[in-house]
Amino acid sequence: MFRIYRPYVFPDEIDPAIGKDLKRLGVKFEPILHADTDAIVCLLATKVDAALLARVPKLRVVSNVAVGVDNIDVPACTARGVVVTNTPDVLTEATADLAWALLLAAARRVPESERYVREGKWKQWDWTALRGHDVHGRTLGILGAGRIGQATGHRAVGFSMEVLYTSRQRRLLFEHTTQARRVDFKALLRQSDFLSIHVPLNKETRHLVGSRELAMMKPGAILINTARGAIVDEAALAKALKSGRLAAAGLDVFEHEPKIHPDLLKLDNVVILPHIGSATETTRRRMVETALRNCLAALKGEVPPNALNAHALNLKG
Ligand code: DGY
Repeated sequence: MFRIYRPYVFPDEIDPAIGKDLKRLGVKFEPILHADTDAIVCLLATKVDAALLARVPKLRVVSNVAVGVDNIDVPACTARGVVVTNTPDVLTEATADLAWALLLAAARRVPESERYVREGKWKQWDWTALRGHDVHGRTLGILGAGRIGQATGHRAVGFSMEVLYTSRQRRLLFEHTTQARRVDFKALLRQSDFLSIHVPLNKETRHLVGSRELAMMKPGAILINTARGAIVDEAALAKALKSGRLAAAGLDVFEHEPKIHPDLLKLDNVVILPHIGSATETTRRRMVETALRNCLAALKGEVPPNALNAHALNLKG
């Protein structure tokens, strides 16, 4: 029998093969952590740190139902022989779709226009009202051309946009299909009309986009963030938006979720969403299935398909 701490409810429908495996292994899901918990299947709101790990000496795997793992202290897990897994791929397209929903909404002032109608302000067709910014033919900068960054860049082809990107390595297939150009961070800031953030949150990327970087962006540029809030200095962003230096922003993520910086909330030129990048029925089901497959593999003594520290498996006594 295996005890899995799962601090939330799964969808009813999952791949029957997973259901069979869960039964065969005698898995018991529990909403609280026990001293003999074998596995954790968690969302990004669960912080897995050294203090938590010290309470669960038998733990073998932390299976995050997310691609980002900034809620997990991976080195601390490795030191205890605990394998950490995530759910890449299955949420790539949904998150790229949402980056584009934000991009278009911010550029064309969609939420503001909707408020204008609902608040009864639309009295007659108005030539000057709610003018936004062109999207087609402009330059999209992708900060971090991993899976989601590239999927976001692919969609720009249909809008006849020029695509720039930063990445540790060149992405030749991406360049081939989108004519994208790899540039350095400063050039990306200076040349992009739209800057879409897709780097993971870690020590190097925390507040990577601060007042200095915002000042380097094109006047009138639009910033989109579907990665992690703490990559951007929110106070500095609010200042840049208030002064008109940036035209708009579309944000799905925030540094202290669910709290939002009060200065951002006051601004009309920010589109604000409650971290819903992967929130489609299909994607969320696939994320749970991926997380369960990872977890079951670890419990069976196999290397999980999405292990981030597979070598940890050799360290458990
Ligand atoms: C992730 O997977 O990291 C998203 O932010 C949550 O779905």
